[in-house]
Amino acid sequence: MARKKIALIGAGNIGGTLAHLAALKSLGDVVLFDVVEGVPQGKALDLRQCAPVEGFDVDVKGTNDYADIAGADVIIVTAGVARKPGMSRDDLLGINLKVMKAVGEGIAANAPDAFVICITNPLDAMVWALREFSGLPHQKVVGMAGVLDSSRFSAFLAEEFQVSIKDVTSFVLGGHGDTMVPVIEYSTVSGIPVPDLIKQGRSTQEKIDAIIQRTRGGGGEIVALLKTGSAYYAPATSAIAMAQAYLGDEKRVLPAAVHLTGQYGVDNLYVGVPVVIGAGGVEQIVEIALSDEAKKNLDVSVDAVKELLVACKAIDGSLA
Ligand code: APR
Repeated sequence: MARKKIALIGAGNIGGTLAHLAALKSLGDVVLFDVVEGVPQGKALDLRQCAPVEGFDVDVKGTNDYADIAGADVIIVTAGVARKPGMSRDDLLGINLKVMKAVGEGIAANAPDAFVICITNPLDAMVWALREFSGLPHQKVVGMAGVLDSSRFSAFLAEEFQVSIKDVTSFVLGGHGDTMVPVIEYSTVSGIPVPDLIKQGRSTQEKIDAIIQRTRGGGGEIVALLKTGSAYYAPATSAIAMAQAYLGDEKRVLPAAVHLTGQYGVDNLYVGVPVVIGAGGVEQIVEIALSDEAKKNLDVSVDAVKELLVACKAIDGSLA
């Protein structure tokens, strides 16, 4: 059987880390694409020189030519720019929308059968735009945010409860970042929901609320520490888990930004919800009953996504 092929669009911090992880895990041959000449080639050369030490046989190639992504099974998109001081939200949207247009057209022309995972921010708007520009089926284009947000939430919960991370599961919905909706009733330590752990005196509502706030601001906390650039190890690790779920037909239940058609009362928008990922891409959307508070928070999150799409449509008339 031929090796799988993983194309990474954007060879920056996350793209390079994705390439490293994909090669270490031998997920398939890796193609690292960027518009900047030399960077994907240099990173690919460096990564190929890991192979003798790590013993992986997959190839890693750097390129500036979309033709090289032909036949990719999975494409992970991190292309774009981060918001810089003085740049308005609409400036950023304008720049990254243009990038999504180029990437969407490149994918449509060269790898229309791929499963596409978008990471570029603002995530919920960019994944929607990427789907529109590429014209791929909705179930083959997803946004990576929920795995990262729930991973951050789980890491903080494990620290709070002083238990192994292996025994913590956490559940988040909604948009990426400030408006994400952690659902503590479905967040557990070995199946024991967080509200029960609070009742047992193992934590307090105040401490859990502080953890939720820290999770929402998880990306910003890292930006403030790094000063230049944003998080990349956990975002890359999260997207690789999604790629593996697809490539291995694992049917994993993971939170992802997906196209909703009425679920959770949301129509024709990309919003973060739990889904089953397998060989068909997004194979099921998992709907759970929400408390009034979670429903209210999800509505706020959905409104924020809608606002972004209005701004996108104003910038690029072809999306309207
Ligand atoms: N096509 C391909 N690559 C592009 C394009 C384009 N049109 N425009 C920019 N790029 C490349 C840049 O050259 C750069 O190498 O995208 C890469 C982005 O890398 P970084 O700036 O290092 O950003 P990174 O930390 O990897 O984050 C990428 O993911 O989490 C989000 O907010 C983050 O939107 C950002 C994205």
